Amino acid sequence: MKVLLVGSGGREHTLCWKIAQSSLVDEIFCAPGNGGIAQEAICIDIASEDIGSLMRFAKDNAIDCTVVGPEAPLVAGLVDAFRAEGLPVFGPEKNAALLEGSKIFAKEVLRDCSIPTARFGTFTGIAHAKDFIRNADFDLVVKADGLAAGKGVIVTSSKDEAFDAVETILLKKEFGSSGESVVIEERLRGEEASFIAICDGEHIIPLASSQDHKPIFDNDKGPNTGGMGAYSPAPIVDSTIWGKVMDEILYPLVAGLRAKGITYRGVLYAGLMIVDSTPSVLEFNVRMGDPETQPLLMRLSSDIVPVLITVAQGGSIRNIELSWETGPSVCVVMASGGYPGSYEKGKKITGIEHADALEGVKVFHAGTRLEGSSFFTSGGRVLGVTALGQDLPATIEKAYQAVSLISFDSAFYRNDIGFKALKRFA
Ligand code: AMP
Ligand code: GLY
Repeated sequence: MKVLLVGSGGREHTLCWKIAQSSLVDEIFCAPGNGGIAQEAICIDIASEDIGSLMRFAKDNAIDCTVVGPEAPLVAGLVDAFRAEGLPVFGPEKNAALLEGSKIFAKEVLRDCSIPTARFGTFTGIAHAKDFIRNADFDLVVKADGLAAGKGVIVTSSKDEAFDAVETILLKKEFGSSGESVVIEERLRGEEASFIAICDGEHIIPLASSQDHKPIFDNDKGPNTGGMGAYSPAPIVDSTIWGKVMDEILYPLVAGLRAKGITYRGVLYAGLMIVDSTPSVLEFNVRMGDPETQPLLMRLSSDIVPVLITVAQGGSIRNIELSWETGPSVCVVMASGGYPGSYEKGKKITGIEHADALEGVKVFHAGTRLEGSSFFTSGGRVLGVTALGQDLPATIEKAYQAVSLISFDSAFYRNDIGFKALKRFA
């Protein structure tokens, strides 16, 4: 079987590594890929949003299954275009991808399906938005409606900050057309977790639980990033919370979408805030998390390809089961100094092969490029150094031991990945 993977981040390197282990797969292409992917697949120079060129490539090369990593091509309608030509593709269609593409749409679906989520209002005009802020007796989060590369959410602690946030989005248009409308919602305080599942339009296979580390600095300080590390499982998601997520969030959502004429096929990722053992939905993503994919797929012991191809062909996943390593996995992201603000690129990276040689360690590449036999930095998040082990303290130690073997100029990483989970066992 020939697979085309779309994307260029750590998530895609991890998917590529996992897909390459399948006995069903003969050849993997990745558009456009990165330095690490170039070692496991044939990288092709097509941007992940160039739907026309991707389609031509899939046709010309008789691709059996295209797997879409990032959200932007899904929201732009890649899957609809491929399906219209009869090309098997894994991911939700445009109308379903709107769950991530429009925060207003997502909140309306949540409300219509009676799924727990923060109280909210939606606004296009600044005057009404400010009235809502003035009248709110809780702290607020202001969100640009459309895609903003993970940057369109402003968490505030005072009314003045909330006024500034709506001005930034609606008046200064800092997120461009993504910020033509905003959601303003109650700020929830609890612990976040990521709940990621695969859906065939009706049935749902949950993946293991996981937890991201969004802020740039230790102890969750500083601005949010795409994610500075992750681990799986997330001990906060106990069996009670797990049951609530399935029965009160995911199944009602998929059924509610079906009632609106939307068949959800692909990855469904619920970003949760768990407050007093009750999960509330902060956001939906329509693709795997990055960096959650890294520890998740390290722990997945089954072949991932049967579920991908079944969903891509419109089949039923009712009889597919996935099995997991019982030990935990921890991923520490190494970033370019300055990220999530401005940073320099083109730094030579050394030591990856020594880290990879440690037992149970895999270094997934995000912002890297391969030049000759050397790797250079080419993005904010550079590597996802991931370890699989028997218990959490040893696995955290192994991940950091691997990190210590890698260097590049101005490398930056958090030193407390996994500590939140450790505290739960203390
Ligand atoms: P989102 O893209 O909606 O998940 O927002 C990005 C991040 O902003 C989340 O991971 C949370 O850390 C934070 N956030 C979003 N909505 C809320 C909320 N209602 N209360 C508290 N934090 C939030
Ligand atoms: N790690 C958060 C995300 O993928 O959206």
